[in-house]
Amino acid sequence: MKVIAISNQKGGVAKTTTCLNLAAYFARKYKVLIIDCDKQANLSKNIGVEEPKTTINDLFQKKPFEVINVRKNLDLIPSSIDFAGIDLVIQGELARETILKKAIKKLGSAYDFIFLDCPPDMNLVTVNALTAADYVIIPVQASQFSMDGVDIMIQFIGGVRESLNEDLSLLGILITHFDERLRISKSIEQDFKDNEWEDALFKTRIRRNTAIENSQHKDNRMTIFEYQKNSPGAVDYAKLGNEIARKIKKYSETWD
Ligand SMILES: Nc1ncnc2c1ncn2[C@@H]1O[C@H](COP(=O)(O)OP(=O)(O)OP(=O)(O)O)[C@@H](O)[C@H]1O
Ligand SMILES: [Mg+2]
Repeated sequence: MKVIAISNQKGGVAKTTTCLNLAAYFARKYKVLIIDCDKQANLSKNIGVEEPKTTINDLFQKKPFEVINVRKNLDLIPSSIDFAGIDLVIQGELARETILKKAIKKLGSAYDFIFLDCPPDMNLVTVNALTAADYVIIPVQASQFSMDGVDIMIQFIGGVRESLNEDLSLLGILITHFDERLRISKSIEQDFKDNEWEDALFKTRIRRNTAIENSQHKDNRMTIFEYQKNSPGAVDYAKLGNEIARKIKKYSETWD
C-alpha cells in the first residue's frame, strides 16, 4: 500500500483535480481509496457525494465512519463543511498529528493506493496528511507560479519529515494549467532548471483544458476519463499516472 498526499498551501492550483483524476487512473488496475481532507469538500462533490452521513470529521474524532464506494475499485472517505472546526477539537490531544496515520493503518491492506486531497492550508490536517503519507505531490499553477511558494512547501515537508515522518518522499512537483503559448510557462521551466529542484519536476505537464472544468460542473461531476477520454486533460493525467507508476517502482527497487 502506498499513500500519496496532494498538497500545496496555495489555493486553486489543481490539487483536487489531480487527486481525483490520478485516483481514477490508478483504479483501472488497482484498489484505490481517496480521503477528502478538505472542509471545502470539492473532491467529494466532484465525484457526486453530497451530504454524506459520516465524513472525515468522524474519523478525526474517532467515531464510526463509512467508506463509500464511488466507482469500480474506487472508494471515498468524504468531507463536509463540518470538518472546519477540527483543528480546535484535536489541538489539545496527545498524538494529534498521527490520527489519520493510525486510521489508515486500521483500514489495513484493503487498498493498493490511498490518495489524500489536502486543504490549501498548513494546518494540523495537512500535518496529519503528510505524516500519514509515503509520498507527496506538489501541484503548481503555471500562471501564478512562484519559486518562493515552492520553497515554503518544501521546507514544510522537511519539517514534517524531521519530526514526524522520516519516510516521506517528495514524489514530484507538477505544473498545472500549463499553456505553452504563455511566456510565463516557459520561464517556469527555466526557473526550475536554474534551481536545485529541477529533478523534482514531473516531465508531464497538465495543460489548461476546458474539458477538465466541464467534467467538474454540477451537471456532470465526472472524472476526466468518464467525461471526455480523448481530451488533452485525460491524455495528460494518464501520462502523469504512468510517470508516477514508473517513479514509485524505481523508489521501491532502491529501497527493497
Ligand atoms: N488543467 C486545467 N485546465 C482548466 N481548468 C482546470 C485545470 N485544472 C483545474 N482546473 C480548474 O481550476 C479550478 C481549481 O482546481 P482545483 O479545485 O483542483 O484546485 P485546488 O488546488 O484543489 O483548489 P483549493 O486550494 O481551493 O482546494 C477548478 O475550477 C478546476 O476545474
Ligand atoms: Mg481542492
